[in-house]
Amino acid sequence: MKQATARVISNKCILPSGPHRTGKALASNLMQLYCPEIAQKAKPGQFIMVRCGDEIILPRPFSIHSATVDDIALFFAVINCGKGSQWLSMRQDNETVEIFGPSLGNGFLINPRTKNLLLVAGGMGLAPLCFLAQQAIREKRSVTLLLGAAIGPLYTERPENLLPPGIKLITATEEKYDKADYHGLITDLVPDYTNWADQVFACGPVGMYRAMAQIPELESKQVQISLEVRMGCGRGICYSCTIKTKQGLKKICQDGPVFNLDDIPWDELTDIV
Ligand SMILES: Cc1cc2nc3c(=O)[nH]c(=O)nc-3n(C[C@H](O)[C@H](O)[C@H](O)COP(=O)(O)OP(=O)(O)OC[C@H]3O[C@@H](n4cnc5c(N)ncnc54)[C@H](O)[C@@H]3O)c2cc1C
Ligand code: FES
Repeated sequence: MKQATARVISNKCILPSGPHRTGKALASNLMQLYCPEIAQKAKPGQFIMVRCGDEIILPRPFSIHSATVDDIALFFAVINCGKGSQWLSMRQDNETVEIFGPSLGNGFLINPRTKNLLLVAGGMGLAPLCFLAQQAIREKRSVTLLLGAAIGPLYTERPENLLPPGIKLITATEEKYDKADYHGLITDLVPDYTNWADQVFACGPVGMYRAMAQIPELESKQVQISLEVRMGCGRGICYSCTIKTKQGLKKICQDGPVFNLDDIPWDELTDIV
């Protein structure tokens, strides 16, 4: 793993506070970083480890939310009990942050024959799926994004600056919200799109994956999911991210974070957030 210094191009709060799987997100920030050496190698679904100041020993993992030739973007929740994300949210333009990369993990894989991609995002799970959508649209594939959140307008108000044009977006909120397309769980909508979709990609909480694993219409589909757990080193040394899969124990930072939905014995998972 190499260390790189990235310059902050911009760092803006783009969503208000709201519920988050860790408790509460104080905000969600979009951070643009200048770091060509990582941007040029980054693939959708990969992540970087970010050093969050001198007082926090372990770097924090964040998905690559989008990439150009020179820049990458991070889209992250500033969590109320999280020192790292709060430190990151306070970085000003032209400050630098230390990054461990190049981009880590396996990433999502689009089958060359795939025409139609169904993306399923739960809240902040939108972060890595935007980069995947960006690649798919560039390659002239069709993308439908099902985007769910606990409440509106969090995540579900069309975040124009996050999504590449050309995507079909359908939103759902668990609590009734007039501007959302659907009132209920985002996974309720998945069966409506399984005939259309050649491949399905998802990022969200484990509860969402458990629900997806129960959807009969997905049994014949290839479903790739990204697992976000607490990580120590991000490079295969500490074993803190080890997970049981049907192929044996795997390290999420190296073997993942992307796995096939049916590779994970969801009923046996108790110690994962
Ligand atoms: C591969 C990967 C990609 C990720 N991509 C993103 C992203 O794009 N955007 C984003 O907002 N977050 C992402 N995360 C989660 C992000 O790493 C954590 O939110 C971040 O490390 C929190 O750091 P902190 O210092 O603010 O909080 P900490 O002090 O580390 O933790 C605060 C509280 O949150 C809990 N917590 C920490 N990490 C997680 C987690 N992964 N899941 C559930 N609870 C957790 C802790 O148990 C603790 O209670 C990703 C995680 C992984 C593994
Ligand atoms: S985070 Fe250390 S081995 Fe995966």
